Amino acid sequence: MKKILAICGSTRAESANLKLLQVLAQWAGSSYDFNIYEGLASLPHFNPDLDVEPAPEAVATLRQQITEADGVIICTPEYVFSLPGSLKNALEWMVSTVIFDGKPTGLITASASGEKGHEQLLLVMRTLSAAFTEETQLLIKSVKAKIDHGGQIKDAATEAALRRFWAGMETSILEKMDSMKTPKTGQKAYTITTNRSQFDLPLIHRYLSEESYWSKGIPMETVRKGIENSLCFGVFQGENQVGFARVISDFASFAYLADVFILPEHRGQGLSKMLMKTIHEHPDLQGLRRWMLGTLDAHGLYRQFGWKELAAPERFMERHNPDVYKKQ
Ligand SMILES: Cc1cc2nc3c(=O)[nH]c(=O)nc-3n(C[C@H](O)[C@H](O)[C@H](O)COP(=O)(O)O)c2cc1C
Repeated sequence: MKKILAICGSTRAESANLKLLQVLAQWAGSSYDFNIYEGLASLPHFNPDLDVEPAPEAVATLRQQITEADGVIICTPEYVFSLPGSLKNALEWMVSTVIFDGKPTGLITASASGEKGHEQLLLVMRTLSAAFTEETQLLIKSVKAKIDHGGQIKDAATEAALRRFWAGMETSILEKMDSMKTPKTGQKAYTITTNRSQFDLPLIHRYLSEESYWSKGIPMETVRKGIENSLCFGVFQGENQVGFARVISDFASFAYLADVFILPEHRGQGLSKMLMKTIHEHPDLQGLRRWMLGTLDAHGLYRQFGWKELAAPERFMERHNPDVYKKQ
C-alpha cells in the first residue's frame, strides 16, 4: 500500500492545519496508509554537534518514516512571517540527509495570511531537493474562516483547491513509482525477482570476481553455492540482469545482507533504494532481531532503511580470511 507521511506545522490540539490533513486522510481512504506525524513537539533542538551517528532516537524515527513514505505532505501555518520554529527545527534535522531528494512532496500553508511563510517553505523544501509542483503546493488564506470546528471545509473554492492539490499529490506519487520502474522513455521496465532460475550467473560472477571490492577472484562455484543457499534478489531491465543482492538468513531472528550491486551504467536512478525497499519488505524477512552487513561507502543508502553503525563493536567478533579467493 502507498504510504503518505503528513507533518502538521502546528502542534495546537484544535489546529486548522491538522483538520485539513484529516480531510486529506479521509479522501485518501483505504488506498493509502496515511500517517499524521505526532512527534514534532518532542524532537530535540537541532544542533550540528548532535547530528552524528547514531542520531537522537526521535530524529532517526522521523527520518525513517520519511524514507519509507511514498509521499510527504507538510501543512503549516505561518508564524511571525516565517515557518513555525518546531517545523523548521524538524527540517533542519533533514539537511544532512538525502531523504527528501526527489520525494513527492505536498506543501500547504494554511494561515491568516501566510504568503511569506509559504515562500520560505518552498525555499526550504527546494533546498532539501524535495519534488513538488504547482499542483502540489497551496496557500490557503484566512484558514480559520474556511474550516469549522468539526473539520468541515466551509468554502467551496478552498475545497476545490484542496481537491486539486490532492489529485496532484496522487499523480506525483504514481509518476515517481512509474519512473522507478521505467526510468527513461523507450527503455524497458526495471523489475526485481527472487526467482533464481532467471538469474544471469555469469554476470553475477563476473561482477563479484572482477569489479566488486569485496570478493575479487571469487570462484564461480562459490558464487553458485552462495546463491543456492541464500534468498537472492535480482534487478532486471527487461530480460537483462542489472543488479543483485542476497540475504543469508535463518528467517527467524537474523539476516546478513551481502553482495549488493547495481551495474554502473544503471546507477543514479534509485535502483539501489528500490532493491533495499523490496528486501526490507520481503515477507520472509520480517520481525528479525538483527540484520548485519559490511560496507565501504554505502552507509548513506543503508541509513535510510534504519541501519546504524554497531552500537557495541566490542561485543562482536569475526573470523576473516580476506585472501581466501587468491590463487594459491
Ligand atoms: C505565535 C503566532 C504567530 C502568528 N503569526 C502569523 C503570521 O505571521 N502570519 C499569519 O498569517 N498568521 C499568523 N498567526 C496566526 C495563524 O495563522 C493562525 O492562528 C492559524 O490558524 C494557526 O494555524 P493552526 O490553526 O493550524 O494552529 C500566528 C499565530 C501565532 C500563534
